[in-house]
Amino acid sequence: MDKDSQKEGIVYIKTFGCQMNFHDSDILRELLIQSGYMIAGKPDDAGTIIFNTCTVRDHADSKFYSELGRYSKSDKKIIVAGCLSQIAGRSLIKRAPFVHAVVGPQYLYEIPHIITGGSVVLTDDNPEFYIHSRPEIKKLSASVDIMYGCSRFCSYCIVPYTRGREISRRPDDIYDEVCRAAENGAREITLLGQNVNAYSYEDIDFAALLRKVAAISGISRIKFMSPNPASMTDRQIREISYIPKCVPHIHLPLQSGSDRILKLMKRGYNSSGYMKKVEKIEKYIKDAILTTDIIVGFPTETEQDFEQTLKIVGDVGFFNSFMFCYSKRSGTQAGAMEGQVSMVVSKERLGRLIEYQQNITVKKLERYKGSIMSIFVDKQKESGFAGRTRQDIVINVKSGSAVLGKFVPVEVCGISKHTLKGKELA
Ligand code: SAH
Ligand code: SF4
Ligand code: F3S
Repeated sequence: MDKDSQKEGIVYIKTFGCQMNFHDSDILRELLIQSGYMIAGKPDDAGTIIFNTCTVRDHADSKFYSELGRYSKSDKKIIVAGCLSQIAGRSLIKRAPFVHAVVGPQYLYEIPHIITGGSVVLTDDNPEFYIHSRPEIKKLSASVDIMYGCSRFCSYCIVPYTRGREISRRPDDIYDEVCRAAENGAREITLLGQNVNAYSYEDIDFAALLRKVAAISGISRIKFMSPNPASMTDRQIREISYIPKCVPHIHLPLQSGSDRILKLMKRGYNSSGYMKKVEKIEKYIKDAILTTDIIVGFPTETEQDFEQTLKIVGDVGFFNSFMFCYSKRSGTQAGAMEGQVSMVVSKERLGRLIEYQQNITVKKLERYKGSIMSIFVDKQKESGFAGRTRQDIVINVKSGSAVLGKFVPVEVCGISKHTLKGKELA
């Protein structure tokens, strides 16, 4: 058996974090293959391990550090990329001297050269990185990053410090990439960005970009992640409603229902402004479903503030929510605020919120029972298959066979926690 150090050209990538990070890992995988590396299916088979990290909450940091610790005595080459690298920089090498390189997100395209090079820390601003052309990735459901970074600086959030300021890609590059994805078999396209609907390049805004992408034949569904309520304009809502290919699922991160907390968070909207956007979405976009992100236990959050969050969650009736306890991020404005809420209180509120949301989710899912819905088949299982409805709801079908990438009608016969159960039509 080869020693790990002799298997340097075999790379395993471990990814943490959001869809953007997973997309970066997809790009990295292709770049490595183009440079002659082999990709391992499990860490044991590799001589080089690349961690593509996240640092949005403390939990993400701990997950990474506990995995990293396992390699302290191995002779594998360890490279730490992604968001945590940008924040930790040189201190990561001090903490874990066995790490070969620390590479911020703006140095993604340099990684193939770094593996064979000397030990480095690359975290300086590298604004040029964004013009690199993307490798072709063959996927039924493909993602294209249309903008990178974030300039909003919500007071709790580390992302603007990890990914840098907002940059939008050239519309022609995006158009070409979606065309190539369609030629390579993609039927669904997800436009990605930390603040995706803030997309802006010369006179092309997000609404105009959607229209451009919708004109590409072969693509049947267009999704986008993650839009920000503060950047959501009436024009965008109307455009989404006019384009049948746009899925009527809008993820609109609320964060809190309390105006006082929203102001401290620097979100750029208040609860009534948020509700107005929700009403417009529901008015214009047929069968729209809404999902959201919520933080509980932001500094100074009182029981009354939290109850306002519960109220708006009930008023909107989100299909689902991603709910988190506030996590203090040093270097952010909120990290230095007085009145940090104890973890015990935060966790108790989170528990109540999760239960409240789960009851709403169940009611929403129940409504589909008995209906016939067309799903885009994106998973084949040993027995059965799974796919997504036009609103991006997952339906699992236990038995039967359907071809990947096809649209098939199924009858909804039951519900699970966040998904539907379906059966094939005879
Ligand atoms: N750009 C998106 C969110 C990206 S981060 C937006 O503005 O809506 C994804 C989610 O992580 C956020 O919506 C927020 O709910 C959560 N999050 C970010 N920073 C956090 C922190 N310090 N503590 C807890 N949750 C946080
Ligand atoms: Fe973070 Fe706010 Fe930017 Fe979203 S909009 S990534 S929450 S700073
Ligand atoms: Fe995490 Fe970076 Fe995404 S901090 S949530 S991987 S943008």
